[in-house]
Amino acid sequence: MNVGVVVYSLTGNTFSVAETLRSTLASAGHTVSFQTIKAQNEDPNATGPIKLTQVPSLKGLDAVVLGGPVRGFSTAPIVKAYLEQASDFKGLPVYLYVTHHFPLAFLGGNSALGMTRKLVEAKNGNVIGTGVVNWSSKHRPDNIKAVCAGALSALDALK
Ligand SMILES: Cc1cc2nc3c(=O)[nH]c(=O)nc-3n(C[C@H](O)[C@H](O)[C@H](O)COP(=O)(O)O)c2cc1C
Repeated sequence: MNVGVVVYSLTGNTFSVAETLRSTLASAGHTVSFQTIKAQNEDPNATGPIKLTQVPSLKGLDAVVLGGPVRGFSTAPIVKAYLEQASDFKGLPVYLYVTHHFPLAFLGGNSALGMTRKLVEAKNGNVIGTGVVNWSSKHRPDNIKAVCAGALSALDALK
């Protein structure tokens, strides 16, 4: 499948997971493109409207893997701005993952995923799975493996 890995990352955590995802999916035979969401001002304390300078395109994709960091128990505002501006997903399968600081998913990851799911579904995306990487947990490597395995099996189930 033609899979687009779409990621927003400020300090590199979510990006590094995206790179592992990219190699996992490519090794399994998927064609993977990599696109990052960027904004003019990425200061997490900035207020006011977000102006995106890179808006990943969904054109030609069979599925999307979308990753972002948790911000205040919620979807990162730049990911939210992207989903509000993105074109209609038209039923495109989407696997979602987040990275967050805390060691347990219920301390932010799950609520951010729920919010992101609603934003994707509002654009007619079909959420096929979700994953959380708890960055400060000793289980972080296992979390990353689970996200990669989850994305791969969700995509393979579509074949
Ligand atoms: C403004 C701000 C708010 C954050 N809010 C949360 C939060 O609610 N829960 C959490 O676990 N981590 C929170 N974090 C930590 C990030 O989610 C975490 O470090 C993430 O892995 C960063 O990803 P990145 O390196 O891809 O930017 C926050 C970080 C920032 C800068």
